Amino acid sequence: MSSKRVYIKTYGCQMNVYDSARMADSLAPLGYSQCESAEGADLILLNTCHIREKASEKVFSELGRLRALQNAAAEEGRRLLIGVAGCVAQAEGEEIVRRAPQVDLVVGPQTYHRLPGLVTRALAGEDRKALVDTEFPTESKFDFLPEESASPGAAAFLSVQEGCDKFCAFCVVPYTRGAEVSRPVVDILAEAERLVKAGVIEITLLGQNVNAYHGEGPDGREWGLGRLLRRLAEFEGLERLRYTTSHPRDVDAELIAAHRDEAKLMPFLHLPVQSGSDRILDAMNRRHDAAFYHRVVEQLREARPDLALSSDFIVGFPGESDRDFGDTLRLVTEVGYAQAYSFKYSARPGTPAAGAAQSVPEAVKSERLAMLQQLLNEQQQAFNRKSVGQRVPVLLERAAKHPGQLVGRSPWMQSVVVEAPARLLGHLVDVDVLEAHPNSLIGRVVTLSEGNDMNVVEPPQSAAGAATRAMA
Ligand code: 5AD
Ligand code: SF4
Repeated sequence: MSSKRVYIKTYGCQMNVYDSARMADSLAPLGYSQCESAEGADLILLNTCHIREKASEKVFSELGRLRALQNAAAEEGRRLLIGVAGCVAQAEGEEIVRRAPQVDLVVGPQTYHRLPGLVTRALAGEDRKALVDTEFPTESKFDFLPEESASPGAAAFLSVQEGCDKFCAFCVVPYTRGAEVSRPVVDILAEAERLVKAGVIEITLLGQNVNAYHGEGPDGREWGLGRLLRRLAEFEGLERLRYTTSHPRDVDAELIAAHRDEAKLMPFLHLPVQSGSDRILDAMNRRHDAAFYHRVVEQLREARPDLALSSDFIVGFPGESDRDFGDTLRLVTEVGYAQAYSFKYSARPGTPAAGAAQSVPEAVKSERLAMLQQLLNEQQQAFNRKSVGQRVPVLLERAAKHPGQLVGRSPWMQSVVVEAPARLLGHLVDVDVLEAHPNSLIGRVVTLSEGNDMNVVEPPQSAAGAATRAMA
């Protein structure tokens, strides 16, 4: 088997990050190993995002750049295959092939298990028009994708659910990722076990609407996310659990109870609300009002008092008045976020809101976005400042920019930079937070008073114990 190189460029959400890793795994049997740059690659895959117009446009400009690379390869007598995967592939597969002659194959998110076949057929010279696979097949790709091969590091993603049945009026996800599908519990447990054996300490469960999870349990019944989290918390060696992204309507009593009882479930939740205006929430088809969101947050905070929240916001949804936007600012002030993402509304073809009248002028959108972001930044900085003087458990995940420093995450998803030897990579350590910056904290790894060794919290000791201490 000849050795070839694949370069995968990932755009968009964490689901795409996870999918890219699985695509790389699926190509290994064909002799492809993953490389870090497009130069010298034999196959380039763009794993794309369709959520906003800007994200989609990036694909076509990147394809323009890749064309030169493909021509250069041809001059050297090499064949460089170019594939487009992800949500733009799903939504615009045929158009990509028509507009971009350099693209050899197109594969949608539900058919990644067929990628090796598509590559083989492309290499055999099959017509590109036949190499567009954007079906929603009856079989699940998870039953066919190989087990992960690369060493996952200390923190890993695990996809448990895909697709969405919510049909928010602005969102392409129900069209690009299809209907909601949950993986069976046994498959998830098997994957979690492999990850933990490979040294993973933190698992983030992924799904477009992850708390709508309703997979088949080993007992033949449907399990919700709360039950799944409880089962995963039993894994020895696994110290931290997270999940993303959630919908407020799908936060049920079982999930709230998991936040109350499972110390391993980290006290940070991304719970997008999008808007604080009941009128706009209704127009967005979010199926809840602001009061409902407040109640959910209240229940979660009762269950886990140190819970920090994050959200997504859209400004300038069609019909959004100054007053509606004021309601969003008010909601942000009332809830208080540790971090959040905010976007200008971007009309997506095929979504219900795309044809809506009363579009908000671009300048107004920009103004509102700046105001909202200022408020959210202030909240984030205030949240980070509160950490100064606290002792927090940090999972050291990678080298920082400066030599001799490592960076990891606090339970509340803050990036924490410390001076530490590389041998502490992949370990949970207690850190005294010394400084707060807008996007990170600076800390010192706690050393034992006697002896000079680092106080490394090795699994299965509980990290969450330290988390509770930190907030006490
Ligand atoms: N315009 C702007 N933002 C959008 N999002 C989804 N669709 C759109 C759109 N058409 C945002 C939402 C979602 C996040 C992933 O992207 O806030 O939660
Ligand atoms: Fe899109 Fe709404 Fe589904 Fe989230 S819940 S993926 S915003 S349709």
